[in-house]
Amino acid sequence: MDDIPGKITGNDRVTGNYRRLTVRLERSLGRVSPGQFVMVKVPDRDIFLRRPFSVYDSRGRTLTIVYRVVGKGTDALSAAVRGAPLMVLGPLGRGFTPGRGNTPIVVAGGIGYAGVRMLLKRLGDRATLFFGATGKDELCLAEDLGTTRVLASTMDGSFGFAGDVVGLLGHHLDDYLGKKPEVFACGPSGMVKSLKTLLEPVRIPCQVSVEERMACGMGLCFGCVVATRDETNPYKRACKEGPVFNLWDLLL
Ligand SMILES: Cc1cc2nc3c(=O)[nH]c(=O)nc-3n(C[C@H](O)[C@H](O)[C@H](O)COP(=O)(O)OP(=O)(O)OC[C@H]3O[C@@H](n4cnc5c(N)ncnc54)[C@H](O)[C@@H]3O)c2cc1C
Ligand code: FES
Repeated sequence: MDDIPGKITGNDRVTGNYRRLTVRLERSLGRVSPGQFVMVKVPDRDIFLRRPFSVYDSRGRTLTIVYRVVGKGTDALSAAVRGAPLMVLGPLGRGFTPGRGNTPIVVAGGIGYAGVRMLLKRLGDRATLFFGATGKDELCLAEDLGTTRVLASTMDGSFGFAGDVVGLLGHHLDDYLGKKPEVFACGPSGMVKSLKTLLEPVRIPCQVSVEERMACGMGLCFGCVVATRDETNPYKRACKEGPVFNLWDLLL
């Protein structure tokens, strides 16, 4: 698989340190499954490794990602201007596979929203999004969902449930238990661990996108492995066999 050259058509602040980047590629990414990602070659000659970002949207030759500035690579990306060249590799990994006839519950923590946004668009009003933010300003990230029901939590209590998103889901879980619920989640590892603790007693189906650090993104370096219950081949590559895994297969 080769990098696809493109040109930045937008790189704007959404809120806080969250930004939306649009790139016009020389060719389309082709078919993208919700939860798949791309590796982006950050336009800084001192940064060698590409960085992984979920596909937020892909239409024709236009790719959108939404990212949070957290370190050297994303800082360099935030400085890239309209018209600058950008190399993108993808789509990569295995995404979400919603079952038919289930009631989808989607759980996102902060920038994890970028990882489930395509899935939410596909599920439409069948899904409920439980969205965990630091404060109410971050909730504007999920303003483009149309008819999807959104329940929000904020850590500072400035909107919705005061506390974390798993706590919020815990308050509503009983309402879903008779409706064949299926959970899809993307967020920090702490969120995934507490989600597992919450769901353990009911063991409903749950797929999670894990945020491992990645070097190659193509299954070559084994730098992104996660431990699973598979007795013959316990270590799976997040970039190849994931990033979406069955929660009950993971050793967390
Ligand atoms: C499959 C996948 C999809 C992702 N999608 C998105 C997305 O849509 N939007 C987005 O903003 N980010 C996303 N990330 C996380 C993103 O790749 C990292 O934030 C980015 O690589 C950090 O690069 P940096 O050079 O700015 O930070 P660095 O200087 O490398 O690190 C800065 C800080 O960020 C932490 N960090 C670095 N990489 C990761 C990571 N993979 N997960 C969690 N923490 C990390 C480091 O531990 C450190 O504390 C995704 C990660 C994966 C694996
Ligand atoms: S990042 Fe190299 S194998 Fe996954």
